[in-house]
Amino acid sequence: MTGASEWQGTVGRNWAAEWRRTDTSFSELTPHLLDAIAKEPGEVIADIGCGAGQIALSLASARPSARIWGVDISSDLVQTAARRASQADIKGANVSFHCVDAALWLPPAPPDLLVSRHGVMFFPDPPMAFAHLAAISKPGARMVFTCFRKPHENDWATQIAGLLPAPQQTAPSAFPPGPFAFALPDHVRRCMAGWRDHSFTPIDFDYIAGTGENAVAEALALFQRIGPAASALRDLPEPERAEVQARLRELVEAHHRDGRVAFRAAAWLVSATSDNTDG
Ligand SMILES: C[S@@+](CC[C@H](N)C(=O)[O-])C[C@H]1O[C@@H](n2cnc3c(N)ncnc32)[C@H](O)[C@@H]1O
Repeated sequence: MTGASEWQGTVGRNWAAEWRRTDTSFSELTPHLLDAIAKEPGEVIADIGCGAGQIALSLASARPSARIWGVDISSDLVQTAARRASQADIKGANVSFHCVDAALWLPPAPPDLLVSRHGVMFFPDPPMAFAHLAAISKPGARMVFTCFRKPHENDWATQIAGLLPAPQQTAPSAFPPGPFAFALPDHVRRCMAGWRDHSFTPIDFDYIAGTGENAVAEALALFQRIGPAASALRDLPEPERAEVQARLRELVEAHHRDGRVAFRAAAWLVSATSDNTDG
């Protein structure tokens, strides 16, 4: 489970520090999302849970006449995205980044397209959040996002979790926020209050944890800061921490092939239309 306070604290800070590696980890998924977005009209676009901004920045380059807002709850990630925007060669400087809870965000103008790469599975009350996003959008606005499918289809998560001590049981919740909260399409439909005509396209891809000459070191650096091993390694006392680190290295080395460390991953590409009819 990863909630707002984690994203506003250590988890957001680590994602901000690791933005190059997290962009690389999604590099086989991102073209599928950008191709799907390219098929949608949109002049006022919101990237929800934009993180360090790769999707918003790509859209700003691809659509110089569009207005693009990246929205994220982590100030560290928003600052990183804004810094990237200031360094990027974006015609028209048509993108800006805002630190705000997307479930409460009031945009200056209603978006006609909302997008997200894995940024919409963390709301504590998804139906409330999605109803809000529909209410602030143009009538008939479109939403396109990616999210992970089930853990057993995502080796990067299950194989690393298998190295760790068993997690403590937490109180059950109807919509527990976290990377796998949107694994089941029926559940996603129930979460997406205010949206209709859902479509779910499965995308299988390689999660690239490391590339190049130092692929193993890159992957170890990523996993020690991001994902299931990161928080466990922070909390574990010695000598258990050293044992997990040794097992993590073995796992990463076993996935090192052809100059990269890659794990099987599986996502949904989801699209839907806003039910909002207020003009
Ligand atoms: C898995 S990361 C994905 C980040 C980015 N979209 C990417 O692909 O690199 C999830 C993002 O959702 C953001 N987030 C979580 N809850 C949020 C909320 N209520 N409002 C806005 N952003 C949120 C996090 O801060 C984080 O940046």
